[in-house]
Amino acid sequence: MTTPVATDLSALPTLSSTLSELNESQLNEFTAGAEALIAQTSDVASLQELRVQLTGKKSALTQWSKQMGSLDGDAKKTYGGWLHSVRSRIQVALGAQQEQLAAQALNDKLASERIDITLPARGAQKGHLHPVTMITQRMQQFFVQAGFNVATGPEVESDYYNFEALNIPSHHPARAMHDTFYFDAHYLLRTHTSPVQIRTMEQSAPPIRIICPGRVYRNDSDQTHSPMFHQLEGLMVTESSTFAELKGLINEFLEAFFGKALTVRFRPSFFPFTEPSAEVDILDDNGKWLEVMGCGMVHPKVLTNCGIDADKYTGFAFGMGIERFAMLYYGIDDLRLFFQNDVRFLKQFG
Ligand code: DAH
Repeated sequence: MTTPVATDLSALPTLSSTLSELNESQLNEFTAGAEALIAQTSDVASLQELRVQLTGKKSALTQWSKQMGSLDGDAKKTYGGWLHSVRSRIQVALGAQQEQLAAQALNDKLASERIDITLPARGAQKGHLHPVTMITQRMQQFFVQAGFNVATGPEVESDYYNFEALNIPSHHPARAMHDTFYFDAHYLLRTHTSPVQIRTMEQSAPPIRIICPGRVYRNDSDQTHSPMFHQLEGLMVTESSTFAELKGLINEFLEAFFGKALTVRFRPSFFPFTEPSAEVDILDDNGKWLEVMGCGMVHPKVLTNCGIDADKYTGFAFGMGIERFAMLYYGIDDLRLFFQNDVRFLKQFG
């Protein structure tokens, strides 16, 4: 059986277009048929179309109503009552269906727009800090708790701050160790974080306790060197700083950083800006000494260069490569991996 389309009035009984030829049961049958058609409509547009066909200017109902004037007396009353009932039943049915369709449309809309907030998000990826940043923070945490302030300085540095003030005059052989990127005779990319020592001592009076983490640059690239890398510098200047204090601090730092008891060795070395100078080694699980930083007592010339009375104050300083600590901490054997931005590598530190 085919369901008649809502706007097909052929499903209704065909009645005479002459009002006086109709009787009540015919009109009842017609109205019941119209109600059924109305109830079958499935959208607002076909309901509207049906409204026009059933009650509009050209509808049978309107044609019949127009003939009311030509009736008289009882006939007028009788037909008037019938037609009124037909029209109001049809209107009630149209109104009810209209509401029904509107409610349905709203339900459909709600169902189609429903968001299930319990579903897991599509392809959600949680990021995390870069391993070098995490290691920097781990190092900083120790020194900040020990009362050091974090200082910073420019990466484009002058020859004076990077070398001269640190007791590395031009033609000093120590310059050859730095593989410096020069812009011109005066400016360069800083080769270490030590110039921040100078800037800090110039600007503040002892007691001074700072660490300076930051990027440094050297024209060098292999498995353990990258042209850009990071260092963490430390400086303490007071009236009573000693090498013993430096040793104690560094020992505590190393054990806190690696989270275990360590065998640490201070090996005599040379840096132009410290006297005496030492290199710090730790003993690894295979009985091999690993060099982890440089340190020493701030050279009196450096204090003097910064306007600090070298007879009254003493200081110690230390400097270490952050990637070196990251490599030891995570067990990574190629420093360049940190800067290749391969997510497969970086993801492992999440
Ligand atoms: N500036 C040195 C370098 O880049 C590291 C260093 C050694 C810093 C000894 C210091 C220090 O402050 O006392 O190799």
